[in-house]
Amino acid sequence: MITVPLLDLGPQNRALEAQFEAAFRDVLRSNQFIMGPRLEAFEKDCAAFLGVKHALGVSSGTDALLLALMALDIGEGDEVLIPSFTFFATAGSVARLGAVPVWVDVDPHHFNIDLADAARKVSPRTRVIMPVHLFGQSCDLVALQAFASAHRLRILEDAAQSMGARWQGRSTMSVGDLGATSFFPSKNLGGMGDSGLVTTSDDALADRARILRVHGMQPKYYHREIGANFRMDPLQAALLHLKLPHLPEYNCARAGNANFYHAALKGKPGIAENRPGVEAAAKILLPVDFSGQGIWNQFTLRVTGGRRDALKAFLTARKIGCEIYYPIPLHRQECFASAGYRGGDSVPVSELLSAEVLSIPIFPELAPDQRQWVADSLADFAAGKTE
Ligand SMILES: Cc1ncc(COP(=O)(O)O)c(C=O)c1O
Repeated sequence: MITVPLLDLGPQNRALEAQFEAAFRDVLRSNQFIMGPRLEAFEKDCAAFLGVKHALGVSSGTDALLLALMALDIGEGDEVLIPSFTFFATAGSVARLGAVPVWVDVDPHHFNIDLADAARKVSPRTRVIMPVHLFGQSCDLVALQAFASAHRLRILEDAAQSMGARWQGRSTMSVGDLGATSFFPSKNLGGMGDSGLVTTSDDALADRARILRVHGMQPKYYHREIGANFRMDPLQAALLHLKLPHLPEYNCARAGNANFYHAALKGKPGIAENRPGVEAAAKILLPVDFSGQGIWNQFTLRVTGGRRDALKAFLTARKIGCEIYYPIPLHRQECFASAGYRGGDSVPVSELLSAEVLSIPIFPELAPDQRQWVADSLADFAAGKTE
């Protein structure tokens, strides 16, 4: 039996090992371990890659969100529209500032924020909409901008899973007032530890975020406001900088794997694409890249008819890695449910997806026999095999 991990970081990092070692030696000998030219060089190339004026390396994707919200002056009593179906950090960063996450439902086909539902949840206290480009697929950036300007809201894009994804040619992280991404090792541009990035093309927001990144300090040892230590290490920046030019090729390899799954499973009984109108007919629904420019951070199936956990057990028995992103929508997390935030009673799609989703291997270095084994196993399960 072939083993297929959900993610194997080894091959990608081994290919650049000699360069990583040289970069480590360079940083070591420089004795500059905080900020400095290596970080600035990485930031400059990230900004160029994304088509934004400013990019700031920070300590994590979570801190990128927190810092961006602080730069927007979000605090006590402000409301922020966020999808209920996402990773915890999206909401955690809002709540940590004393602001209120307002739960918005998502679309069952592309899994991203449902703007019609967002419109129902806007109130006089709403300040920001925080769309998440989930699993590597961009939201409709045109509709997003129109929505934000109609309701006079700021946009903070949570692009933790979507660095390099585009919508009609425009990069995620380049359309919002601010963007945030993560270099957590499982992301398409994955570091060797925690770090993240804040982007903006607004000079004033960039200046503010730069100051807040270092304890609100300017000039040295003078603090007009309270920031924190949100810095990215230059060592991390140097390592990520070596991987950045390879990001398009990593993203392309992921798309190749997604195309393979679609081609291999096309027309198989019980399997269909996750498009409007097909749910009733199929047991396994394959994710669709509606933008045509997604980066496939995850390949996330919907498994209908209450069979998701059975498929997870079936794949696990066949030594195929898989994971549920995410098993509980955020409005049901204990810390938020007890706070009674608004919107949680009307996000049925988030509830449904939490019960149906299952992500399977899609990492760039997936071998041909590995992805064939995954596809064969999905076809077997959909055809009714039990082992
Ligand atoms: C959607 C989303 N937002 C925020 C984050 C937070 O990023 P980090 O883990 O780098 O703090 C993640 C990372 O997992 C994420 O997937």
